[in-house]
Amino acid sequence: MKEDKQPYMRTMTTGDIPEIIEIEKRSFISPWTRGMFVQTLASPVSHSFVMIDGQRITGYIILYQAGLEIHIMNIAVHPDHRRQGIGGAMMAGILESARADSVELCFLEVRETNFPARALYEKLGFKNIGKRKGYYSETNEDAIVMQLSL
Ligand code: COA
Repeated sequence: MKEDKQPYMRTMTTGDIPEIIEIEKRSFISPWTRGMFVQTLASPVSHSFVMIDGQRITGYIILYQAGLEIHIMNIAVHPDHRRQGIGGAMMAGILESARADSVELCFLEVRETNFPARALYEKLGFKNIGKRKGYYSETNEDAIVMQLSL
């Protein structure tokens, strides 16, 4: 049968976690554990989404909301599906819904050497507002703190 459904974003569920962990392990030096995803999904301040293409999860994004601010906690795209606009689409989706919700600021941290992610955030208008020294303890790498005014 022809699969003609467009990719779409939906809320993450615990049933998604095994597939997400496979992407997570291929995306980060210190991947989140199952427990971290479970805890995040249970948190009333977190909002977590997956991008679905066909039957597969191609990416996911997790944010925390505190008042009129949101903080991007995690975003990754399956390595086989990068540079196809998925990361940008997920970010645009959550930023659009944050704006509609009168959220004023979006923050995130990114590894200084993570040039693909930094390029994505800069393209969306994020500005560097500071640095957290040695934030990534396993490599002692600094985090760049970025902010977008919505
Ligand atoms: N090199 C340079 N710029 C890049 C890039 C790369 N490898 N990947 C993305 N970008 C920038 C470009 O400006 C791109 O626009 P363009 O394709 O028109 O040039 C823009 O980001 C949007 O790219 P998109 O295709 O939407 O990104 P993606 O779906 O590949 O997802 C990440 C980007 C960062 C989420 C993905 O690389 C990833 O999962 N990385 C591993 C996990 C990670 O580092 N997460 C971020 C933690 S802070």
